[in-house]
Amino acid sequence: MNPFEQAEVLLQEIEEQVLTNAQDAEAFRIKYIGSKGLLKDLFAAMKDIPNERKKEFGQLVNELKQRAESKVNEAKISSAKASTKKSFEDLSAPGVPYVVGTRHPINIVKNEMVEIFKRLGFVVEDGPEIEDDWHNFTALNLPENHPARDMQDTFYIDFNANRLLRTHTSSAQIRVMEKQKPPIRIITPGRVYRNETISARAHCTFHQVEGLYIDKNVSFADLKQTLYYFAKEMFGSDNIRMRPSYFPFTEPSAEIDISCFICNQTGCSVCKHSGWVEIGGCGMVDPAVLENVGIDSEEYTGFAFGMGIERITMLKYGINDIRLFFENDMRFLQQFS
Ligand code: PHE
Repeated sequence: MNPFEQAEVLLQEIEEQVLTNAQDAEAFRIKYIGSKGLLKDLFAAMKDIPNERKKEFGQLVNELKQRAESKVNEAKISSAKASTKKSFEDLSAPGVPYVVGTRHPINIVKNEMVEIFKRLGFVVEDGPEIEDDWHNFTALNLPENHPARDMQDTFYIDFNANRLLRTHTSSAQIRVMEKQKPPIRIITPGRVYRNETISARAHCTFHQVEGLYIDKNVSFADLKQTLYYFAKEMFGSDNIRMRPSYFPFTEPSAEIDISCFICNQTGCSVCKHSGWVEIGGCGMVDPAVLENVGIDSEEYTGFAFGMGIERITMLKYGINDIRLFFENDMRFLQQFS
């Protein structure tokens, strides 16, 4: 028999088969379209077909394959239907659970952070993502042409119209201080934007939780205690350290590091073999900021801190690429159910 005749015979055979259950369908699949199936041999015969008939032969074999596949699919569907029908008749069988959505990991961690700070008396405040220069920069002691503006690669919507995307949620804190007298104890969770090159560690949009506490006699010790409490509640360890740093809106300022619990300080790629990972910045609110919003800096002091939610989520769940948060890949998101 030449390959054309073989194909005809196979087609005949495939058409005649009756597949009544899932086992039949599987046996059929293995026999005809499995990796060692009969169709494989036919495909292999292609090389002996004269060139002018290759196309015709190819079409014939493809048709065969499609017929076989749809037969298998039909059989599987009808056997699945039959089996659901069966369990439907068993009234004592457990119900089929509804598949419900899951929270995004950023929201899970944000909610957790909000809960922790709530227990210390912080209330949640929000502000607009589209900001003006005053709230994002000038009021925060970053006047025009201040070199530290370069630290925050700003997306301007319209430079002349004074519209930009906030680079931190400190802008929301200015808004609260403008309309509220101390004591003020707030956190401002939210999305911020920076014109950064997207990589595994940085994105042009991310989320922060910033905190602000203003009252009489607020000291750096209060700030430290607040951060210790947060670290203990969030990570189960208050092994954090503060490194002197600079922010225009705080003085003194510090960067907050937490000991790397991914490697237990033995050195890994997450902590860049230093044993510590940075989770945010903090400091005592600069008196100039208080004066800018009409709060008497002789009478009141305050502390502020800011943390990136992505960074904390990555640490908490051992996620090594920030881009995963924004891709909406179900395989990633479903792991947080
Ligand atoms: N606003 C700072 C930032 O986004 C973080 C920060 C907040 C630092 C409060 C100190 C005090 O970079």
